[in-house]
Amino acid sequence: MIILDKVIEVRKEIKTASKNAKTIGLVPTMGFLHDGHLSLIKRAREENDLVVVSIFVNPTQFGPGEDLESYPRNLERDSSLAESAGADIIFAPSVEEIYPNGYNTYVEVEGEMTKKLCGASRPGHFKGVATVVSKLFNIIAPDRAYFGQKDAQQVAVIEQIVRDLNFDIEIVSCPIVREKDGLAMSSRNIYLNEDERKDAVILSQSLFEAEKMIKNGERDPLKLKEFIIKNINTKPNVEIDYVEIVNSKTLEDVKEIKGDVLIALAVKIGRARLIDNICMEVQ
Ligand code: PAF
Repeated sequence: MIILDKVIEVRKEIKTASKNAKTIGLVPTMGFLHDGHLSLIKRAREENDLVVVSIFVNPTQFGPGEDLESYPRNLERDSSLAESAGADIIFAPSVEEIYPNGYNTYVEVEGEMTKKLCGASRPGHFKGVATVVSKLFNIIAPDRAYFGQKDAQQVAVIEQIVRDLNFDIEIVSCPIVREKDGLAMSSRNIYLNEDERKDAVILSQSLFEAEKMIKNGERDPLKLKEFIIKNINTKPNVEIDYVEIVNSKTLEDVKEIKGDVLIALAVKIGRARLIDNICMEVQ
């Protein structure tokens, strides 16, 4: 495995490697890898001849007052984890390499899709994601790119970019990887102290209960939302950002639980803003 930090180097390496490698899989990350990321790398390894993992804490997707400075970083640890999961190349550029002096071009997905859920509480976030992911697609030119379903809205936004900008790339959305007690894995879980970590289980627990309610016949999104909010609020130190029930493909609100349904939530616990969701196909 090699670690590169310059666009010119990674392009050269990919050009050489792709003479023999037929397909390239890209796993874009912000580093501080956990088992969720590793599941993406392993899947990319299974499905491609060359696996590139990008590690870049992208400043343009953080808003003022967010955790850009404190976001955990550890390239050495990430490199050995990525290698053991099957990465061939790590692309870990500096901020200046991606956004050099005079940088002035952004990709923005317009419309409701980026204005609701995380887009409502993190204005500009998806513009930053769309821009950096488009740049990575142009630099690496992968056949497939792998993203976690935990960021369900991000996946929907990236699928929209691929359609709209004619990227010839298959977007592979991989299942959420959870801790034993159900907490969705996230690099931001490191911000939780012992008590907050215990409380954080309420997120997945509420979603799983809602899933059971749907399986038992509940079809009213308002009732489900009300249940989730009430359940989460039994923990005194959590602050709900949103709980939304939408169509998982279009992210449009649903009036009835039917078809492709996404129940998504974001909750602040101490310093951490955590997101989680469940996706269901309901007859
Ligand atoms: O999901 C992430 O870690 C980031 O949003 C991504 C896709 C790597 C873009 O910076």
